[in-house]
Amino acid sequence: MESAARITGTGSAFPERRMTNDDIAQELTRFGLKTDNQWIIDRTGIIERRISNIQNPAETNSSLGARAAEIALERAGRKPEDIDQIIYATCSPDTLLPSTACWLQKKIGARRAWAMDINAACSGFIYGVVTAEQFILSGYSRTILVVGAEVLSQLVNWHDRTICILFGDGAGAAVVEQVPAGYSQRILSSYLSSDGNLSNLLHIPAGGSNLEVTPERYAQNLHKMQMNGRELFKVAVRTLSECALRTLEKLHMPAIKLDWFVPHQANLRIIEAVASRVGLPMDKVIINLDRYGNTSAATIPTALDEAIRDGRIRKGQTVLMDAFGSGLTAGALLFRW
Ligand code: UT7
Repeated sequence: MESAARITGTGSAFPERRMTNDDIAQELTRFGLKTDNQWIIDRTGIIERRISNIQNPAETNSSLGARAAEIALERAGRKPEDIDQIIYATCSPDTLLPSTACWLQKKIGARRAWAMDINAACSGFIYGVVTAEQFILSGYSRTILVVGAEVLSQLVNWHDRTICILFGDGAGAAVVEQVPAGYSQRILSSYLSSDGNLSNLLHIPAGGSNLEVTPERYAQNLHKMQMNGRELFKVAVRTLSECALRTLEKLHMPAIKLDWFVPHQANLRIIEAVASRVGLPMDKVIINLDRYGNTSAATIPTALDEAIRDGRIRKGQTVLMDAFGSGLTAGALLFRW
């Protein structure tokens, strides 16, 4: 039987603690650095973000992912035993071994599933849903849980004011299921890309097998994110616009016909520039970065979940998700909800 893939339920979860821009400004003064609420709002659009207490077992990456997954399953009318496959998109895993997907499997009791992580940084959720779709189209799996979750506060250099203002923690999830090929509510089109030549724009030099964390490297914060923000900004606008337009083109769909745009939530100015290039008014754009900052692989599923829950995204409407991230990875996916 010819088949297609459809998103049937979404969920999201965040840690309790809110960290405002003023909280960050106060924190930075301890290191003799300055920022202020208005600068952060004007340059990024972020007002506050959530930060995990990693001493609290309920706020680890896989625990946030599990909460988001359970909500998504409930909304899809599915039980953990129904899941064939788990795809967990994260660049801040609970542990390097085993995968966070396996920790999540244990937590939600998805006994029948096989589980794997994807590290495509902020593009991880889109890479995950495209991968899920391909496993469904090949007939290998029928019901797949895709999670995008991060505890980035552990990877942020809290002494670098261009980085620590941007990121936050959270988790989003979606259930992707097999439907007949002609089904109207389905994934319609997608486009993925990577450019390893741009890997130095956002990276963590130490802590992998390539560079051990020694006391000297620890003191230099080489185990934390290093970012060229200005350059990344330009590349982000270009790649997000390109991915969105190529995904629409594959379907011969003019942007104006699109109901909703859910872009990666890195910076409001990036989102506005992309919306303008693609030809989308801002009232079609879903934003949650004002309250959560950049949660990497979790930005898109959490923003999507919020807009579905509050009734903005209605059944039968078209939604374009669009992301870029460290790698440099990028991708967009269009579906009918
Ligand atoms: O998922 C991908 C993750 N990363 C991104 O998407 C990052 C994309 N880039 C950005 O969002 C922006 O480049 C930033 C928000 C990181 C920076 O904004 P910008 O408008 O590009 O600022 P800038 O780097 O050009 O810096 C302008 C000034 C500089 O001072 P001088 O050299 O003009 O005196 C910075 O030192 O702003 C200063 N600055 C700050 N001032 C107050 C940088 N960070 C801060 C800060 N508070 N937090």
